[in-house]
Amino acid sequence: MNKFQGPKGSVVLTWMAVLWCWTNVSAYPWIPLPAHHRYLNTTMPVPGSGLQVDYRMRDWQVQAESWLQEIQQLSFSWNAGPPLRIRVDSLGPEDAVNLMELGITTDWQWDEAYVLVLAEGTATLRAQSPKGLFYATRTLIQMLESDSIRATGSLPAVMVWDFPRFAWRGMHLDVARHFWEPDKIQQYLSWMARYKMNVFHWHLTDDQGWRLEIPEFPGLTKVSAWRSATLRGRPVDVEDSLLYRHQQHGGYYTEAEVRALVRYADSLGIRVVPEIEMPGHARAALAAYPALSCRADSQGVPGHWGVFEDVFCAGNEATLEFLTQVLDHVCRIFPDSVVHLGGDECPKTRWEACPLCQQRMRSLDLPDAHALQSWFMSRMIQHLASQGKSAIGWDEILEGGLPEGAAVMSWRGTEGGKAAARAGHSVVMSPGKPCYLDHYQHDGPEEPLAIGGMNRLEDVYTYEPVPDDLEPGAVMWIQGAQGNVWTEYMTSWDKVEYMVMPRMTALAEVLWSPALNRTVGRGRTFEHYRDRLRCHAGWMARQGLHFAPHGWDPTLLPERPSN
Ligand code: ACM
Ligand code: ZN
Repeated sequence: MNKFQGPKGSVVLTWMAVLWCWTNVSAYPWIPLPAHHRYLNTTMPVPGSGLQVDYRMRDWQVQAESWLQEIQQLSFSWNAGPPLRIRVDSLGPEDAVNLMELGITTDWQWDEAYVLVLAEGTATLRAQSPKGLFYATRTLIQMLESDSIRATGSLPAVMVWDFPRFAWRGMHLDVARHFWEPDKIQQYLSWMARYKMNVFHWHLTDDQGWRLEIPEFPGLTKVSAWRSATLRGRPVDVEDSLLYRHQQHGGYYTEAEVRALVRYADSLGIRVVPEIEMPGHARAALAAYPALSCRADSQGVPGHWGVFEDVFCAGNEATLEFLTQVLDHVCRIFPDSVVHLGGDECPKTRWEACPLCQQRMRSLDLPDAHALQSWFMSRMIQHLASQGKSAIGWDEILEGGLPEGAAVMSWRGTEGGKAAARAGHSVVMSPGKPCYLDHYQHDGPEEPLAIGGMNRLEDVYTYEPVPDDLEPGAVMWIQGAQGNVWTEYMTSWDKVEYMVMPRMTALAEVLWSPALNRTVGRGRTFEHYRDRLRCHAGWMARQGLHFAPHGWDPTLLPERPSN
């Protein structure tokens, strides 16, 4: 088991952070920082327990009640004051003018926008839709739970006008390399919602495990979901069986579990985008159905990491039929309009030697195996379109041409993203630097094993998703960005927590708040973010979260490495 800083090790640092927050922060420590806020130079006493809610927008009551319950649960029982009054209302004409002056333009921004006024014992939450109201409640929670507020006994009166900068505020999770039970996925979604992230990219299939029950193909859950051994650590020699933990690892999500998680995500304003990897990263599926590869024999589900030569056969019509049936099931149980088709890291070795693949290339008059991949992806993208869905894939799907309407996730740097935007495809930026949260975040000797690389908290915080050299006409295609959490070296959920927290909170601010150089008013510097982050230490500790402490204590942030 890797050693890493968990709640026990960081308890002193946590309480130092909370104490610091009590004595240094008189403003609300929001993450992400709202688009705009103004303090009203008055305060109100901290309310007592209970809420009095006045629904001016009756239609939103059912949804709002569960969100407000969380506020009710914040314990103010130590305070004898009157309960907080909450007024739920729609945006007024003056709000609309203010939000437009602050730069709101698109429909989806209006959908998520809200105005919050806290003064004279009342929190007024105004929004255009329940989504906006949800975000208003997230902001209010961060105000009421703040340790500094508890310490001073009063709440500064404030007005907040807020809306997101980007539509795609994503977090990815690899459940193939290590499987995480549904309650862990639920936790992940709850962290995302707290920080106003709104797309969960669920990486459901890969070489080392297939995690989605598909009734037509029982082999996927009987065989593909399980492996008998897992490589320990990061040894060079994957052939040495002594370097493996010989223990079964696996699991999968049933249709009922998927539906429940999708419903839960929806209640938190989160879209769920499932990923079915093709044509590469397919070894787990091929272990159950070897005839779908370019060779007939089964090789089992691998227990080590990397890029494997055996992939789905592009020449065999049965393979394409299998994948379309899988996608039909995915389209039925995932309501989101987007499905991720993978498309990355597909070696062409087997296709070059496979009679069926070669025959396909000849019959379609394709110049090479890259064109065959482009044809393969296009067929799947067209099939999704016939089901009313659109596709996104890793940036390799650009090679050889991409059908209109397909989106690109730029992971090998930003060149793929820029090329896609210039060609009129939607783009989600997720370059290894700094969006891969499986990379190291610190170079101290106590750091737990990671895959490599270095993405410090500050690197994530100062990330700008729109490349400097992208022409203004192409900028509109950048939908946002995403943090990727590959779990080869995350053998426990504690470690997932540690790699995600607090870097996810930095990315959340990049994606919600105005750009660093466009900030209206205070904040949006790394130092200011770090001060606010310290005030989240209490929440993380109360959740029992394992988190990297370097974010709270600058003395733990060494010089940047030279590479
Ligand atoms: C990837 O990291 N292979 C998308
Ligand atoms: Zn083949």
